Amino acid sequence: MSEAPPTDTVDIDAVRADTPAAAHGVFLDSAGSSLPPRPVVETVIGHLRREEEVGGYRAARERADDVAAVRTSVGRLVGAPPSSIALSDSATRAWCDFFYAVPLSPGDRILISSVEYATNAIAALQRARQTGAVVEVVPSDGSGSIDLAAFEAMMDDRVALVSLVHAPTNSGLLNPVREVADIAHRFGALVVLDACQSVGQSSLDLSRLGVDALSATGRKWLRGPRGTGFLAVAESVLDTLEPRSLDLHSASWTGPDTYTVASDATRFETWEHDVAARLGLGAAVDYLLDLGVDAVEAAVRLRADRLRGALADTAGISVRDPGERRTGIVTFTVDGVDTTAVKDALAARDITVTVSPASSTLLDMTARGLDSVVRASPHYFLTPDQIDEAADACRALVR
Ligand SMILES: Cc1ncc(COP(=O)(O)O)c(C=O)c1O
Repeated sequence: MSEAPPTDTVDIDAVRADTPAAAHGVFLDSAGSSLPPRPVVETVIGHLRREEEVGGYRAARERADDVAAVRTSVGRLVGAPPSSIALSDSATRAWCDFFYAVPLSPGDRILISSVEYATNAIAALQRARQTGAVVEVVPSDGSGSIDLAAFEAMMDDRVALVSLVHAPTNSGLLNPVREVADIAHRFGALVVLDACQSVGQSSLDLSRLGVDALSATGRKWLRGPRGTGFLAVAESVLDTLEPRSLDLHSASWTGPDTYTVASDATRFETWEHDVAARLGLGAAVDYLLDLGVDAVEAAVRLRADRLRGALADTAGISVRDPGERRTGIVTFTVDGVDTTAVKDALAARDITVTVSPASSTLLDMTARGLDSVVRASPHYFLTPDQIDEAADACRALVR
C-alpha cells in the first residue's frame, strides 16, 4: 500500500445504494465473504434466469464474449494480459493449480511464510511427503514482516519454490513482495504470491511485484460471488508448467497418443464452470475498476486505521496486527473474554465480525501464543459512524 496519507474519494452514497445491507447493521467481514454490490447479484441472477429459459449451453454461448472479457478485466486489475489469467473457483484451487505443477525432486526445498495459510502449508507438506522435497519456514522479523535478511541467508539453488502470503488471514500485516521475488529469482526459485486478502483492497501489478504467479478469490475484498477465484501466471513461466490435471479445455486431444496443452493460462482452467458466478466475478472486478483501486485502497485504509486506533486506545483490548504496513484487516482480543463470545456479543448488536482460529495460520498464531483473534474487516461502504459504533460496542465488552 502507498505511504501517502489516504483521502476518501469513494462516493459513499452511491456504493451504499448498491449495497442495501450496508444500511442495516455494521458489516465487518469483507476478509471473510463480503456483501456483493447489486450489479454483481443482478448479473448472477440474470444468467441463472436465462439458463432457466434456454438451458445452460445456449445461455453460455450467448455470453461467450462476456465470459472471455472477465479475463481481460481481471488482467487489468492485476496488471497482466488476459492470456496470463486462469479463472478458477477459489483461491485455494488457483494456488494449488500452480503449486502442484511445479516439478519437485528429492531434496528440493519449498519455502513458506511464517503467516502461511493452512491450505497452502498442507499442500506443501503433502508434496514434500510425495516427492522427498522439504518444507522450511522463512521467519518474520521484529516487526512481523517476512525477514528479508534471514530469507536471503536461507536461499540456495535447491529452493524450487517460495510461497509468500501478501496479507495473511489473521492480521493486518502486508508483506513486501518485490524484494522477496528479486532474492528468490537470483537463486532460480519460483515465487507464488497468495494475494487472496490483498486483491480487491490493494493495488497490485504482477510484473511490478515480480512474482511468477498470484492467486486470489472472488468473494472477499473483490465483493464477487462465492465459488470464484483466479490465478495470474507470468508469461515467462507459463509454458514451462504442465498442470497436474488436464481436460479438453486446458488441452487438445490431437491424435490417438497425443495431446497439446493450451499455450495460455487456460491450461489451468477446466471446461465446466459456473457461468453465472464467473460473469458475477467479472461484474465485481469491473465495479472495482470503475471505483478505482487506489480510491478503494485509501478508503479501506482510512476505515481500518480508524477502527484499529480506537481499539488500540482502549484498555482491556489488545490489537493483534503486527507489521509496519497495514491492510484493512483489524484483529484484536478483549481481555478475559473469549473471542467467540466477542463475536456473538457483536452479532447481537448486528455487527458482523469473524474469529480467526490458530488452525488457519498455525505457525504465526503459535509463535504469538494466540488461540484465536477477532477479525474485523471494514470495506469502503462503511460510514465513519458505523466504524465508531463497532468500536463503542467492543469497548462495552471490556470488563
Ligand atoms: C490468506 C488466504 N489465503 C487463501 C485463502 C483461501 O481462499 P479460498 O477459500 O477462496 O480458497 C484464504 C481464505 O480465507 C486466505 O485468507
